[in-house]
Amino acid sequence: MSGADARDRYLTANYARQPVVFVRGEGARLWDAEGHEYLDLQTGLAVNSVGHCHPAVVTAIREQAASLIHVGNLFYTEPMVALSERLALASGLGDGTKVFFTNSGTEAVEAALKCARKRRRGGTIVSLQRGFHGRTYGALSATPQESKQAPFAPLVPGFVSVEPTAEAISGVVDQETAAVILEPVQGESGVYDLGPDVLRAAREACDAHGAALIFDEIQCGLGRTGDLWGWQRSGVVPDAMTVAKALAGGLPIGAFVAGPGMAEVFEPGDHGSTFAGGPVQCAAGLAVMDVVSDDLLAGVRELGERMTARLAELPGVVAVRGRGFMQAIDLDGVDAIALVGRALREQRLVLNATGPGTVRLLPPLTIGPAVLDEALDRLATLLA
Ligand SMILES: Cc1ncc(COP(=O)(O)O)c(C=O)c1O
Repeated sequence: MSGADARDRYLTANYARQPVVFVRGEGARLWDAEGHEYLDLQTGLAVNSVGHCHPAVVTAIREQAASLIHVGNLFYTEPMVALSERLALASGLGDGTKVFFTNSGTEAVEAALKCARKRRRGGTIVSLQRGFHGRTYGALSATPQESKQAPFAPLVPGFVSVEPTAEAISGVVDQETAAVILEPVQGESGVYDLGPDVLRAAREACDAHGAALIFDEIQCGLGRTGDLWGWQRSGVVPDAMTVAKALAGGLPIGAFVAGPGMAEVFEPGDHGSTFAGGPVQCAAGLAVMDVVSDDLLAGVRELGERMTARLAELPGVVAVRGRGFMQAIDLDGVDAIALVGRALREQRLVLNATGPGTVRLLPPLTIGPAVLDEALDRLATLLA
């Protein structure tokens, strides 16, 4: 059996994996089993935001793993309490904000949806077209993409989706609406910044009808756009957020961050998870939040603009979207999926295609100007 066949023998086929086995990572660099070095502009889909194996994250994991790995949610651990405080205070959602930890983004979304439905029993969940919120049944029901939903029907009842416009949102929210859930910058569909008008319309519609406004910050949060939260520039504050991906530097974690009005809804027995909020993940999360400083974010904003300018000049690029280190390029006459494969083989550059003509770039927030330029040079060579 060849190497590739052997690798796929016991793995289900729900990923079209690249034929690369990575064995090591450091900062923005990865190494495969044959010793080739790569530059990573994909960061495990917005997870390795502080770079691979950041020394502070590695130390936090090592130290915590040596003292306590799991005790469960019927007790407290110091890292869990400290990270909940850190996230609640950094959330901007106000006094009374509370956190429920999960193991993934989709589970953070499930918690948010359940909370909203308990708050308004039987209420409708409104989500936006092009949105992506996860693969479990609740989150999938809020992800209005035919190819992802259709094979798994019937989905959860009581979900509606509308176009991501102010008018459409204002037109659909009513007294029956439990929540509107949206990504301030839509990631999986190709990096679409919804902008302040859409967020404001959602806020006003939810306020008018007593519905909860949930921002899914799983991809665009924690500094990815150059602000701590994707919604921050709009000034529109949600009732709750979902956070995951980058939070624990690569360990599985998620968080449902519930502001006042949502934070009081869950009572003992309402919701739970065996592993969630484990001390090792939370210790890593605290280390990540230390690294994502105001100075680092200022650098991401500056380098993000430089990246936009360089991307716009590349041959074949017809559109650049996004901000900070969450950007996408649309390519004319180039197969983006094939390009990602060529980038790996020919330039040792790790990219992601969100569709047949769109490449998404998610560099580590810590990459710095020199390595970012090196990576963009490789992309330029590829497209030349
Ligand atoms: C905005 C958004 N929400 C939810 C999810 C689901 O997160 P997970 O894959 O950790 O379940 C993702 C994953 O890509 C995402 O980008």
